This record gives sequence, structure tokens and C-alpha cells, in this order.
Amino acid sequence: MRSIPYGRQSITQEDIEAVVSTLKADFLTQGPKIKEFEEKFADYVDARFAIAVSNATAGLHLSVLALGLQKGERVITTPITFAATANSIRYARGEVWFADIDKDTYLLSLESVKNLIESKSKGFFKGIIPVDFGGLPVNLAAFRKLANEHNLWIIEDACHAPGGSFRDSEDKNQKCGNGNFADLAVFSFHPVKHIACGEGGMVTTNSKELYEKMQMLRTHGITKSNMQENHGGWYYEMQELGFNYRLTDFQSALGITQLAKNEASVKRRNQIAEKYKTAFKGKIKFQALPIGALNAHHLFVIEVADRKALYNYLRKNEIFAQIHYIPVHKLPYYKKIGYKGAELSNAEDYYKKCISLPMFPTISGVEQNYVITKVLEFI
Ligand SMILES: Cc1ncc(COP(=O)(O)O)c(C=O)c1O
Repeated sequence: MRSIPYGRQSITQEDIEAVVSTLKADFLTQGPKIKEFEEKFADYVDARFAIAVSNATAGLHLSVLALGLQKGERVITTPITFAATANSIRYARGEVWFADIDKDTYLLSLESVKNLIESKSKGFFKGIIPVDFGGLPVNLAAFRKLANEHNLWIIEDACHAPGGSFRDSEDKNQKCGNGNFADLAVFSFHPVKHIACGEGGMVTTNSKELYEKMQMLRTHGITKSNMQENHGGWYYEMQELGFNYRLTDFQSALGITQLAKNEASVKRRNQIAEKYKTAFKGKIKFQALPIGALNAHHLFVIEVADRKALYNYLRKNEIFAQIHYIPVHKLPYYKKIGYKGAELSNAEDYYKKCISLPMFPTISGVEQNYVITKVLEFI
């Protein structure tokens, strides 16, 4: 049996043909495939607008800029995420404040965020960036209520969760990134994620104003919207200091065919998760699932006491599990600049025990059985 990674992209002949046909077409970038991908993605997550970007890090950066984050302004996020979430705040010279996670869902704890906000004066914080960690959507309805009370914006880091949903207090399913609660939501198309574009990302929103601002920031801060009759066709204005954070047409072509398979992929990921849960129930702790939520399962995380030994044991058996994540506040850069925030004991406990098992739609039954056997053998 070949080695088993924790995640693996799945590229079919259809994906290859879509890319090749775009490579033969007129536009490699700034062409029609980008708009098509944006419209299909917005439609998929039930949002009004989507903006394709070169990667999710760029999407997060543009999001904090579009929301007007200024030097020294404070934003709350989770320590259990990839560094890029917190880094986006630093790109705008903002201050990163961490709140703790819930010990069962591993998501940013509403209670910890609330306590942190209430320990400061009004206006102290500007925004919150919760993460749909592992593919499990944050209950954004509850976060929106808190954010409204304190006049905060919300960026949903939905990199792990295209196709996931949570159930709101009126029993309605709310899809990740649908823009009903967060101001902006950011998705990643790195190959370990659900939709592989090589590199790539998408930002969704229901706000026309933010959509237009993001579009401008994505292309150098340039717009042609102020074109007057006496201007030549070449006329444009650079109104802000923007970036080149565009996705190409051939990446978008791949994104379109990958997106079409996402529903089936989330379904398969949930079958894999169910099989792990059945095997581990009563023996090993795994990420909890709130009632009515659909975990898109980018990851399947378990907690074990001797995590390092399990990690090494699995490697010895050609199973390449991974750790998600070293808490961001433990990274040397954040230690050096001196992070602030709540007490982070749940995040620190979690980090001592967490390990992500192989989770990708093309894992075979035989491969998954082998992973389960090796984990149980170790336990
Ligand atoms: C939670 C989270 N946010 C942001 C990112 C950044 O995504 P990208 O690699 O597309 O820039 C990642 C990627 O690993 C991630 O897992």
C-alpha cells in the first residue's frame, strides 16, 4: 500500500480538459472564466457576490483593508488556526487579540470572546475573525448578535468549510459564507482544501459596497468607473493603494469543475467521518458536532494523550497524520511582538493532544480501515 497523507487533491480528466481548453483560449487572466467561477461560487454558497483572489491569505488581507482596519486597531481571533488568519490583521498593522476555543468543537468560543469584549470599554475592538475550523461552521448568528451589540465587523475564515452549514435559532440552515451574518467570508483553494486550484481563494459578501471595494483593491486600487464622455478608452483611476491579487482564468476553469464536485466531496467526507466515529466512539475523543450542523470535514481531528508517540507510530506505518495547529500565539513571531487576549487554556490543552487523521474523498475503504486499525492498535 502506498503511503497515506492527511489530505490529497483529486484531479479528474474533466478538470484537466477544462484547464487545457482555457490555456488554448484568448484569456489566460482577466478573462471570462473568473466571472463565471465567481458567479457559480456565489450561487453555491447562497451569497450575493463573490470575488476570486490569488489565495485566501490575499483574500483575508483585502478583507481587513476593505473594512477599514487601521494601525493599532484591535481584532479578536482564534489561536487554533493557520497563521494567515492572524497575519491578515498584522498586514494592516492591527493588533491581534486571541480568545479561547470551545474544548469540544475546537471553534472560537463565543463566551470567551464575549468576556474579552466586556472586559474592555466600548469601541476597544473593531472586529472578530472566527474560523470554521476543520470544516465545522461557527454559529455566526450568535456571533453577529454579539458583534452588533459592540459595533464590530466579522470576517468568517471559511477556508476549511465550503459546503458546510450551521442551524440558526429559527431552525434554518445557514451555509458557510452566505453573507447573512459575516461581512465577508474567505475560502481557500490550496490543494489540501476541498476545491483545488493550485493556489486560489474566494471572498463572498452580501454587501455591494464591500464587493466593489474588494474588486478595486484586488487590482491595484484601479477603477474605470469614473469614466466620462471626454475621456479616452484607456482612462482609469487609481484611487487606493491596492494589490495584484487576481486569480487566473485557467485556475478559475479548474475551480469551476472542482466546485461542481464539492457537494459529492462533502458527502463522501462525512461518510469517512462517520466510519471513524463508529470505530472510535467511547475510546477516543473527536471534534463534536453541534445539533443541525454540517461539518464539511476538511479535517478529522482526534485527541489522544500521547500525541507525539501516535504521530510517530503512524509515520512508521506510512500514515502521514498532521497537527492542526500549533496555536498561533505560540509561534515565535507572535511571542516576539507580544500577543494579547483571554486566557487560552482550552487551546493549549487541545494542542497537546490533537492530531488530524487522513481525510480526503478518494481514500479507499482498505486505506481507511488500515488507519483505524493502526490508531486503535496504538491506543
Ligand atoms: C484557516 C486558514 N485560513 C487561511 C489560510 C490561507 O489560505 P491560502 O493558503 O489559500 O492563502 C489557510 C490555509 O491553510 C487556512 O487553513
